[in-house]
Amino acid sequence: MYEQLFTEHKIGKVTSPNRLVFEPMGNYYAELDGSVSERDIAFYAERAKGGCGIVMTEVASVNSKTGRGNLRNLCTDDDKFIPGYQKMADSVHKYGSLLFVELYHPGCQGIAPINGGSMASPSGQESDLIHMPSHEMTKEEINSTVNDFVEGAVRMQKAGVDGVVLHAAHGYLLCEFISTYTNHRTDEYGGSIENRVRIIKEIVEGIREKCGDYPIIIRFSADEYMREIGKEGGMVLDDAVQMAKLFESYGVDALDVSAGNYETMNWAWEPTGFDEGWKMVNGATIAKEVNIPVIACSVIRTPQGAVDFLNKGVAFVGSARQFFADPYWGEKVKNGREKEIRKCISCLNCMESLMAADEDNGMRCQCTVNVEGGEECTYLPLKNNGDGRKVVILGAGPAGLEAARVAAERGFKPVIIEKTSEIGGQLNLANKPPKKDKITWLIDYYQAMIDKYDIEVRLNTEATAELIKSEAPYKVINAIGSSPVLPKAIPGLDQDYIITPPDVLFGKTQLTGKKVCVVGSGMTGIETAEFLQEMGNEIELYEMADDIGPGLFFQNLIDVMGRLAPGGCKFFAKHQLMSVSEHEAVFKNLESKEEVKAVYDNIVISLGTRSNTITDDIAKAFPDMISIGDALKSGRIRHAIEGGYKAAVEL
Ligand SMILES: Cc1cc2nc3c(=O)[nH]c(=O)nc-3n(C[C@H](O)[C@H](O)[C@H](O)COP(=O)(O)O)c2cc1C
Repeated sequence: MYEQLFTEHKIGKVTSPNRLVFEPMGNYYAELDGSVSERDIAFYAERAKGGCGIVMTEVASVNSKTGRGNLRNLCTDDDKFIPGYQKMADSVHKYGSLLFVELYHPGCQGIAPINGGSMASPSGQESDLIHMPSHEMTKEEINSTVNDFVEGAVRMQKAGVDGVVLHAAHGYLLCEFISTYTNHRTDEYGGSIENRVRIIKEIVEGIREKCGDYPIIIRFSADEYMREIGKEGGMVLDDAVQMAKLFESYGVDALDVSAGNYETMNWAWEPTGFDEGWKMVNGATIAKEVNIPVIACSVIRTPQGAVDFLNKGVAFVGSARQFFADPYWGEKVKNGREKEIRKCISCLNCMESLMAADEDNGMRCQCTVNVEGGEECTYLPLKNNGDGRKVVILGAGPAGLEAARVAAERGFKPVIIEKTSEIGGQLNLANKPPKKDKITWLIDYYQAMIDKYDIEVRLNTEATAELIKSEAPYKVINAIGSSPVLPKAIPGLDQDYIITPPDVLFGKTQLTGKKVCVVGSGMTGIETAEFLQEMGNEIELYEMADDIGPGLFFQNLIDVMGRLAPGGCKFFAKHQLMSVSEHEAVFKNLESKEEVKAVYDNIVISLGTRSNTITDDIAKAFPDMISIGDALKSGRIRHAIEGGYKAAVEL
């Protein structure tokens, strides 16, 4: 049905077996000295095995002294790195796929303290996101950087890597040169389009001189969307088309069209507010204007979306997050198992974890829906030694469903007991606010797994010790989730106009034209506010912490606020709810210490959840029961899925 995706296509002298590209994805998996780790090798090999015809590495720094993005960033500036890339290339080639390494220098978006104190950039402009000291590059610095890129390519060729990607996207050094937002030079490297791309021309010429027809792809931001944040300048599609033609004239083998920079990050790796296909226009427009293959991404998650993109003229469909979430996307689509795809839900846990990664916390880039992502070495292959032993799982939320999926894959026989009439647990709340329908993909995926493994699910069933005993289970897993907290310390929360996010999102309380106060601006509170606003209510959102959205990843906060604020919602940070009486809420302004009172039709309390408790009977009958997800401790979807995965792996 999607045969087009599985036809060969050339990039210069090499041929990809299909049209699927695993785009570069920073991961913090490399060794501390910048060499390829076993973790890297297993990670990329898995994407090749799963059906990506082209696998691109994360940013690989061409200068480990002045140009690293983090402490565990691949590097290319020493021959000692070659054997690692050789091994990586072999492991990708084993599955018939091509490996491209993305050569990069972070420019002003690098971390100055690990790169000599000041970041090189075309005009010494600081990034308004990370504010690192930056200096204008001298011509000598430009020349030596060109050389670093060329030497990087030489080493990759020696390692048997199929080609290189020159990273001129996302606000890093080469992007800074091509962009009018960051390049204010008046010499031959600034001003006209030809001048702004000169550094790339020199790199391409250098690689051609030393490596002959070694495949080169240029990845660049066709649009930096600066206008979206009220700023002028930056890459726009018209300029990008002209640049694409120039790149073609320099003899590069393909273009990879991306978007955004750090300041417009939401247009580069998009939060949930962006739909599949929204920026196809960039890749499609450029593809019409050049005769070399164009690779492009645009939140592609479905095979139909990928085919639509090919039909618009791109030669390859790229995604980083989709193939992180499910490396077997290609295999599944090819073999008519589309329903089994585990789609990326654009929650950006990958970017949040990557940004938080460091040596102290042991954090690495991780995926909410794919616990194995980046942990292939640790978990794969899964042991299949369940021998049909029964595992009773209480609760069909994400934790229970993942435990059941993995247990079934290991040959156990899971039986899920769920007290409500549907699977998904709190995913059925999380998918209700505007733009959160991608969460439904996750519920659909688990339904597909239930069907695939013929997992027994007993809906509308209250678990009792007798019922569980009658199954004679090898193990019992408690995944009964959590419920909203209504703090007893706040007087007045027992009134009928006091409601919780589930009341609103499950439709038990339907409100329109009301004045509603939402107390608590975590993700649930903020999204419930958005849901209620869309239903035509007037919303005031209160938060005790210093800022709205405490603990939320900034990209997601920007996304939701971009919809909530224009709708008229009023925000009150540093306000603690003290009491409620007769529809009047009394807050303490934690700054001025004044009392603030306001009257509302309804008050939504979104102050977190508390684990549900299992009955004493069950607890006594099954003392070695394993508790996971919210039943253990309230958390996000990743916490639930990770709990389910690990519990099932350890059975
Ligand atoms: C965690 C994360 C790390 C990324 N790292 C890189 C990178 O190293 N190099 C690069 O060119 N793009 C990088 N990107 C951008 C992706 O390649 C891709 O363009 C973006 O995620 C949008 O496409 P997608 O939604 O299909 O993944 C990264 C994106 C994410 C989310």
